[in-house]
Amino acid sequence: MTAERAASHVETEETVTLTIDKTGETHQLRVLSGTTGPSAIDVRDLYAQTGMFTYDPGFTSTASCDSSLTYIDGDAGILRHRGYAIEDLAEHSDFMEVCYLLLNGDLPNAKQKAKFEHTITNHTMVHEQLMYLFRGFRRDAHPMSILVGVTGALSAFYHDSTDISDAHQRMVASHRLIAKMPTIAALAYKYSIGQPFVYPRNDLNFAENFLHMTFSVPAEEYRLLPEVSRAMDRIFILHADHEQNASTSTVRLAGSSGANPFACIAAGISSLWGPAHGGANEAVLNMLGEIGSKDRIPEFIARAKDKDDPFRLMGFGHRVYKNYDPRATVLRKSCDEVLAALGVGDEPLLDLAMELEKTALADPYFVERKLFPNVDFYSGILLKAMGFPTSMFTVLFALARTVGWVAQWKEMVEDPKQRIGRPRQLYVGPDERKFVPMAGRR
Ligand code: CMC
Repeated sequence: MTAERAASHVETEETVTLTIDKTGETHQLRVLSGTTGPSAIDVRDLYAQTGMFTYDPGFTSTASCDSSLTYIDGDAGILRHRGYAIEDLAEHSDFMEVCYLLLNGDLPNAKQKAKFEHTITNHTMVHEQLMYLFRGFRRDAHPMSILVGVTGALSAFYHDSTDISDAHQRMVASHRLIAKMPTIAALAYKYSIGQPFVYPRNDLNFAENFLHMTFSVPAEEYRLLPEVSRAMDRIFILHADHEQNASTSTVRLAGSSGANPFACIAAGISSLWGPAHGGANEAVLNMLGEIGSKDRIPEFIARAKDKDDPFRLMGFGHRVYKNYDPRATVLRKSCDEVLAALGVGDEPLLDLAMELEKTALADPYFVERKLFPNVDFYSGILLKAMGFPTSMFTVLFALARTVGWVAQWKEMVEDPKQRIGRPRQLYVGPDERKFVPMAGRR
């Protein structure tokens, strides 16, 4: 299956009958099926047929689109991109291959891979004028705020790739976004710590280049450790796409109006920033710092269970996974490898995280609700060991997720069924009221 031959659902023979008890009216609703996973009841004609909406805040039972990019079975803890298990991609592939896979539908052959890498490498520099934008931010600005602003501004710099009706421009914009995001992320970091900007280097691979732009200084070249670049690349793979989550749905919704891809990705970054989504990796490390030592774990577990306390165990629980998040399993293993390569030895935060995980997984509150560690639980420890400050964690998530957002956006724009996204509501405000002139208001 290639991306050019856009996949679509199948209308099955199966139907579901909806009976409106009050009137006795019945309505036949078609059942749609995909390749695998739950089928869906087609309610597109429901309003026209019945004058009623469906109600699903948080979209827990709603499929918003067809997609052939990513499959998740949350009960079994399965994550696949275009059919390939995340464990295999993390172990045997690299981020550039995964980008190609997500964008084009298949893993590249050697020639396709070399060409794709060359294309991405040729787009890593940003317009020199864009650098001035950074200087408009306060030095203590959170790098995510810089990332949102500067990504949105890309549409002002790359006019020749904002016509979404042109397939070539869509592809150029996709490549530009994937290639420039590491540069923008590194520039945001450099600006926030007052160091000079470092230009990209075309002789380095994607992960190495990002580490170089982030950690090199003119006075001293950053020493690239293969274990660290490999771990960076793996982190990028693990965050590349994750189906219709909040930020991806935001990108699709923004794009459904015909907005340009740079603006859509800026919208996705904003959505990712929240602590219930991509902001959780930063929140996990802050939480571990607050817990401080193993003897305080019971106190924080009790707080997480207390419904009168807003505290939640960060890095735990997931809307879809009701099992161990497969990405967390890979990251936990990576933590040991990277800490050993860096000669960190015993990392107290990793010890604390493992003990916290053990305690939570033995507690009926977490067991009954199927709350397991998610991708953010271990990523922060790994990133910290690699030298990233916590404020950069969500930036790294955004950098890696850009390919997923872009591929999902492209898939949506190329889907002939695509219409502007326009949810309805259950209006609960006042009914019609007569306007009261000022003199009559109390
Ligand atoms: N700590 C304590 N209780 C929790 C937690 C948690 N981390 N997560 C869920 N619960 C409880 C929740 O209080 C509810 O209990 P009850 O049934 O008694 O009311 C039950 O579990 C179901 O939770 P929910 O809030 O209805 O679940 P949701 O699907 O709406 O939310 C979530 C999913 C990820 C927002 C939530 O689990 C959470 O806030 N986790 C912490 C933040 C986090 O780690 N986010 C990263 C998600 S993975 C990366 C990404 O997608 O960006």
